[in-house]
Amino acid sequence: MINTWTLYQAETCVVWSRFASFIEVGGRTGLGFRDTSQDVMSVVHTNPNKCRQRIVELLRAQVSSGYGLHLFDPDWFDEEKRKGPTFKSPTIAHAPELRSVIHGIEHVCSDDALWIVVTCCEYVKETGDVAFFDEVIPFADEGEGTVYEHLKRSLDFSAEHVGRDGICLGLRADWNDCLNLGGGESAMVSFMHHWALRAFVEAAEFLEQKGDAKRYNALADKVKAACEKQLWDGAWYLRGFTAKGLKVGSAECDEGKIFLESNSWAVLSDVASPERGAQCMDAVDEHLYSKYGIHLAWPAFSKPNDDIGFIGRVYKGVKENAAIFSHPNPWAIIAECKLGRGERAMKFYDSMLPAKQNEMIEVREAEPYSYCQFIMGQDHTAFGRARHPWLTGSAGWNYTAVTRWILGVRLSFDGLIVDPCIPGDWKEFSVKRRWRGATYAITVKNPMGVEKGVVSVTLNGDAVDGVVRAQAGGTVNEVVVVMG
Ligand code: GLC
Repeated sequence: MINTWTLYQAETCVVWSRFASFIEVGGRTGLGFRDTSQDVMSVVHTNPNKCRQRIVELLRAQVSSGYGLHLFDPDWFDEEKRKGPTFKSPTIAHAPELRSVIHGIEHVCSDDALWIVVTCCEYVKETGDVAFFDEVIPFADEGEGTVYEHLKRSLDFSAEHVGRDGICLGLRADWNDCLNLGGGESAMVSFMHHWALRAFVEAAEFLEQKGDAKRYNALADKVKAACEKQLWDGAWYLRGFTAKGLKVGSAECDEGKIFLESNSWAVLSDVASPERGAQCMDAVDEHLYSKYGIHLAWPAFSKPNDDIGFIGRVYKGVKENAAIFSHPNPWAIIAECKLGRGERAMKFYDSMLPAKQNEMIEVREAEPYSYCQFIMGQDHTAFGRARHPWLTGSAGWNYTAVTRWILGVRLSFDGLIVDPCIPGDWKEFSVKRRWRGATYAITVKNPMGVEKGVVSVTLNGDAVDGVVRAQAGGTVNEVVVVMG
């Protein structure tokens, strides 16, 4: 699944975004800012040129005040194509001026521009193309800036659009298209803001931009403190607040008491303390887990409530209204890996793995090799039925969860790190990773039967301090990692 199907599915998403399917997107075309940013960050290693093209298209669709256009036709921002005789935008066919495709704040999804920060960092770590940070790219509306400047505008936009208590505004939506919190606040976006800030600080330190590293680190501390103060509900994290200040995703609510996105992101973003992180992910396991994967929320909404958003107008157990929405499932796997709970991470991965549903295809009704956008949840009569295969962010994120977090092979700006989180009964595994033209034949040994923890790393027989630096192109390198 990982070396073939899931990778293939993730790459398909980079090429087609969501626009090859009317079912998937309801008749629209164009690139979705958030979907494409996420698709790209998972597969920068297999097709860096295509990923770079997509990143540049996304950065061109960022306006100078920092937000990303939610949905756009990349050709609009390519002067050559726009001026060509055959150009006809399938998105806005009759718009006379480029300016008319730039939507205002009322259509902004508060998460969109944050994803691109991490996508750019992953691209540079993979390729070593550090000069990319200095490349000048126009903003969608006016002016231009280096890639590095674009990333700062994303982070500043989120810092400027916060509610009373310092939590990011929900705006038209956040990652969840059906939670339309408007002037309310989104826990998920504040967690994401923290995640993107920490990623940017690493980049700023690597680039020796000391002033920025200090400034954005202080901002990250502030965001973290606001999250811990405002968002803890007692046994898990809230999903947010409505514009009227009512809680979403609280034990006090009648419906939608607990959400998957906010709890997995609290941990994934490094906001949650280890105690709260373990507690909130235990609550996810208790209230949201099922044999077909993890539900997005519980209990489903049964009544429309426009303060919360469209979610209550969707059938119970379908799509965002408490289905087993696939895309956030791997976030929970990553969260468990961050907590060091390899058994739980593997349990979550196995539950949704398409290949594991091959023996119940009369229930699943979909290919056993493709992740689907969602699986009907427990509140639906067709519990277990999968819908919308292929074009879903769950492909890239599952690939990331397995390769970078369960197997633990990931990159920092300094080199390759191997930090697995596995079931304790795995005695040994091996991974072949190609990076910047060299091959790393990695063997991980687990003599003590632990779930996480590394006691030694050697590169071609020599001990290294945990980070394997890039080796010459064309070389094959033996990396041995001992857990304990
Ligand atoms: C769909 C959209 C994606 C969104 C998700 C949750 O998969 O393509 O952009 O984040 O639904 O609403």
